Amino acid sequence: MTRLAPQPGERIDRARPLSFTFDGRPVGGYAGDTIVSALLAGGRQVLSRSFKYHRPRGELCGCGQCANSLVTVDGRPGVRGCGEPARDGMAVEHQNAWPSLEHDVMRVADRLGGPLLQVGFYYKTFIRPRRLWPVYEKALRRAAGLGRLPARQDERTWRTEYRRRHCDLLVVGGGLAGLQAAIAAAERGADVVLCDEDVEPGGWALVDGRHAEARALAGRARDLGVEILTRAPALGWFDGLVAVWQGDTLHQVRAPRHVLATGALQQPLVFPGNDLPGVMLSSGARRLAALYAVAPGRRAVVATVDDAGLRDALALHLAGIEVAAVADLRPDAGGGGPAAHLEAAGIPLVRGATVVRAAGRDRVERAVLARALIHI
Ligand code: FES
Repeated sequence: MTRLAPQPGERIDRARPLSFTFDGRPVGGYAGDTIVSALLAGGRQVLSRSFKYHRPRGELCGCGQCANSLVTVDGRPGVRGCGEPARDGMAVEHQNAWPSLEHDVMRVADRLGGPLLQVGFYYKTFIRPRRLWPVYEKALRRAAGLGRLPARQDERTWRTEYRRRHCDLLVVGGGLAGLQAAIAAAERGADVVLCDEDVEPGGWALVDGRHAEARALAGRARDLGVEILTRAPALGWFDGLVAVWQGDTLHQVRAPRHVLATGALQQPLVFPGNDLPGVMLSSGARRLAALYAVAPGRRAVVATVDDAGLRDALALHLAGIEVAAVADLRPDAGGGGPAAHLEAAGIPLVRGATVVRAAGRDRVERAVLARALIHI
């Protein structure tokens, strides 16, 4: 992967380079990068290992919704690298692989697993002889888990603050819908809090070319006095109190009215090899390209079931990524719009087909497409 030419709404500031280390090796990036975008821009694809079989894992969603980018940052385990801004001098380490992320001896579990490591094997295979259980338990505990807490740490190195906030309206989600709801309420004099898990409000509009509109709306909301909490996911509703987690502060927000504008998440397709690094949600690929100007790969195959996937394929093509083919499960996909644009750009659109297998050793190298025999 490499940096693309400057993208219209990119989040990175190319005038402010930074550097940090990953497993002791220097990694370059720019202010605005996340840990993962800087790593991918530097050519790394494997970010972590799976919990049980230690299969290599790469970027999947790019928005904090999976476990593929968990890393340890300055000794703090379990940080999602795709949502954590890169900082000069930070020390980032991989988790759950030994002796290195590239060569993990526990990968043997994937190669030889079979009947030994079936579901729940830890309760079945190692149950006899019973007196050896303490030995097994120690070994299993060492092999399990994602990241390690430091054995010693100063008392109270991480202090959690609690903040109580009463307002007229809490908006959860800072996309265009959430911002417009917040603005409409604030214009009528309401005291509004808006929380969003990203580093800035705007949601998908920041990715799909409406970044100027999104940033203007965010500015307008701030001017109207809307309190915007960023990197602040809402954790849940507890008898009218919504807990919002932001860094080391837990906001306890009470409001008589709520707007949930959390948007939608793509779901991964199910096929053999769909966990290989390089297989990612098209929304994640677009986030990489649009916000961080990182090419998610050199050649892409896009599988979709709707026009959103076609638009993603077109956007990747326009960002400079070669789209080798688009498989659309709909036999009648097209009829103008993004399908026509794709075909005009010379990108093969295979109708009534999908990806049935991805192949490769530690990263995806090939995708196998097949036409569906039955359409329901
Ligand atoms: S959470 Fe980072 S790639 Fe999914």
